[in-house]
Amino acid sequence: MQAMLIEKYGKYPLKLADIPMPTVGDHDILAEIHAASINPLDRLVRDGKLRIMLKYDMPHVLGYDLSGIVIQVGKKVEKFKIGDEIYGRPSKGGAFAEYISVHENDIALKPKNLSHAEAASIPLVGLTSYQVLHDHLELSAGQKVLIQAGSGGVGTFAIQLAKAMGIYVATTTSEAGAGLVRSLGADQIINYRTEQFNKLLHDYDGVFDTIGGETLEKAFQIVKQGGQIVSVVGPPNARFGEAVGSGFIKTNVFRLISRKLTKLENKYNVKYSFLFMKPSGRQLEILTEWIESEKIKPVIDRVFPFKEAQKAMEYSESGRAKGKIIVKMKG
Ligand SMILES: NC(=O)c1ccc[n+]([C@@H]2O[C@H](COP(=O)([O-])OP(=O)(O)OC[C@H]3O[C@@H](n4cnc5c(N)ncnc54)[C@H](OP(=O)(O)O)[C@@H]3O)[C@@H](O)[C@H]2O)c1
Repeated sequence: MQAMLIEKYGKYPLKLADIPMPTVGDHDILAEIHAASINPLDRLVRDGKLRIMLKYDMPHVLGYDLSGIVIQVGKKVEKFKIGDEIYGRPSKGGAFAEYISVHENDIALKPKNLSHAEAASIPLVGLTSYQVLHDHLELSAGQKVLIQAGSGGVGTFAIQLAKAMGIYVATTTSEAGAGLVRSLGADQIINYRTEQFNKLLHDYDGVFDTIGGETLEKAFQIVKQGGQIVSVVGPPNARFGEAVGSGFIKTNVFRLISRKLTKLENKYNVKYSFLFMKPSGRQLEILTEWIESEKIKPVIDRVFPFKEAQKAMEYSESGRAKGKIIVKMKG
């Protein structure tokens, strides 16, 4: 089968290669992939920047979002059958390929009202948004959240999910993304190029940070006492290390690199967490309901043919995408 892979870490272009069909474990399904989507995770893995958390054997097929059709099931698979249309965030990557073997717990039935290209845009950003807003920030109707970078892949999903949960949403974007985030339901839109969110917002229940650095540090100023900030960019802190069982050395590295944020936690009485999203077919089923009831819609910027996956990566690296970038294998 054909796949887009890396042979070593570094800023090398993706290589189109013929590789053997994947093996199918007892709890895996084999899917014919119809579409995948690009995430910043692809280039972070390619560059070797996540080696402390994710280490892959080489060659490694990138791609962490897929939609496709089940063509074989492992001996102990219970949830899926041949012919099912599925979507998911495969734990081990591998979605920039014609076929993938993926654990049945990583996938769910594709929303009936979406094409494969649309469905492939959802899993990673959808699960990230759900895990931040629902599982970590534990926000409920009437509360207020700031979602940074509302026009990005994560932001466009997170705004819609927060609105579906009844939450008041402030978001940051440039002039170019203002119309989009307004159409998704954002209540307050801040142009990060001309305005400072920390001067405009106060008493927020939570912040969903997708930017990091000084932007993350400034977020402490707008959260009410006892509130929370969750960043998906980092740095990880010791609490994260302990929660995921990173071990003594890594946890202490996390403690060291996050010490500035720990000081801010104490100064403002605001909890800081780092989140690394987890694949979950069960949570995807929850998102499917919101999608099928049209409370959440896919937001797609561009679609590239499979063989142009490298161009799709480069477009993602521009950092200017509005919504998601799709790579299409079929149709
Ligand atoms: N830890 C995890 O599990 C996890 C999961 C998902 C994503 N992430 C991380 O989250 C980040 C966002 O991911 P993504 O998929 O949303 O990326 P993306 O789609 O590439 O984000 C692009 C968008 O970001 C906006 N943007 C850039 N700089 C901004 C700023 N300073 N303020 C506000 N908006 C800004 C751009 O808008 P303009 O063109 O208008 O500037 C553009 O629309 C990435 O760093 C990714 O690695 C982490």
